[in-house]
Amino acid sequence: MAVSASCRGHRRGRFFLPLIALLALPTILVKWGRPMGFMRLSSGVYSSTTTSDKVAASRRAVVALAPSAVLGSLGQAAVGEEVAATADPYQGVAQFNGKPKVFVAGSTGELGRRVVLDLLRGGYAIRAGVRDDSRMYEVQYDVIQSRKSPKYDLTVVKNAFITAGQKAELEKAIGDSSVVIDCAGARPVFDVLRPNLYFDQSEAEKTDLNGTKALIDAAVAKGVKKFIYISAVLTNAKALGELDNKEYKQWNSFGKVLDFKHEAELYLQASGLDYTILRPAPMTNDPSNQVGGIWFGKPDTVLLKDGEVGYQVSRDDVSNACADAIFNPKASRGVFELVGASRKSPTPKEKWWDPNSNTKVSK
Ligand SMILES: NC(=O)c1ccc[n+]([C@@H]2O[C@H](COP(=O)([O-])OP(=O)(O)OC[C@H]3O[C@@H](n4cnc5c(N)ncnc54)[C@H](OP(=O)(O)O)[C@@H]3O)[C@@H](O)[C@H]2O)c1
Repeated sequence: MAVSASCRGHRRGRFFLPLIALLALPTILVKWGRPMGFMRLSSGVYSSTTTSDKVAASRRAVVALAPSAVLGSLGQAAVGEEVAATADPYQGVAQFNGKPKVFVAGSTGELGRRVVLDLLRGGYAIRAGVRDDSRMYEVQYDVIQSRKSPKYDLTVVKNAFITAGQKAELEKAIGDSSVVIDCAGARPVFDVLRPNLYFDQSEAEKTDLNGTKALIDAAVAKGVKKFIYISAVLTNAKALGELDNKEYKQWNSFGKVLDFKHEAELYLQASGLDYTILRPAPMTNDPSNQVGGIWFGKPDTVLLKDGEVGYQVSRDDVSNACADAIFNPKASRGVFELVGASRKSPTPKEKWWDPNSNTKVSK
């Protein structure tokens, strides 16, 4: 009996030990992949970082470093699978796995790095624009810059400054991409390593207005097929008579960033490019389910007042919306406000871009 019990135990062990090892693998990878440290001191007006951010950041670093087998096991094929079916808008352009190549501006930012990794997991070839080498190391792009496989392809593009006078350089940075996703924006957070960026009141004008214009000009010159611009809610506050809106006042006090983003929106709309303008509410690194799931609104509907659908939106959701906008024709030439639906039902996926019927930004 003892022998047979031990055999059964051994057989169970043979089954369970690999299973336990398999289950523990993500944890081991997360611990192993945890970035060296979060050295930067941030206190954002509208940037929310949580404990789960660090775990999420670690997971993303691991995903970036992981071989394609691990990527597959994370079950992120949805983006790639969906887009493959409707590749028409990009016929004749340089492609990778039947998808257009994508240039991401501001790829080291909280949103930009999500967009990069989500698209890589969707099987895209990405050119990740970076302006500051030290940030590149922080998000571990230095390790992965030569990361290429049959399933995804990442090229890190250094010195990708989004600022006036950079059109020619930005054309080079865009390279053979036919989609640009502009996640760059002046940072309203104090960075102990770059304090000047916080105290220089002209940063928003330099980046969010003049830099965005330079990137748009470069995209036009390169024949880019789609320009996805991350703007923000309340950019049209002036026209809406919302100058006393306390959220607008606080947010815009950072170098008039919202006013400049609105000007950039208008410039993009007049550029002739196919565009999607996304106006997120204050973004958080919390996952979607903690802020209620994403809700799509018409322009000028989210004023961040009591009783509205919600107040903040998950960056994970905004990143998914960017990925969907690449191929979804309903996202074309539209402005969409994005907020987490803490008080209403989130927008079902098939209705994501429906507000397109009323999407012109008023002057
Ligand atoms: N945070 C929010 O709650 C919120 C809400 C609505 C809209 N938005 C807008 O959404 C976008 C992404 O937000 P986020 O939270 O991801 O911001 P973030 O973490 O501050 O990232 C901003 C990115 O832009 C880059 N950048 C800034 N100035 C640049 C320049 N002159 N040239 C090239 N790159 C530059 C930064 O590079 P470094 O890494 O080198 O600094 C960083 O990669 C921004 O346009 C922001 O204004 C933000």
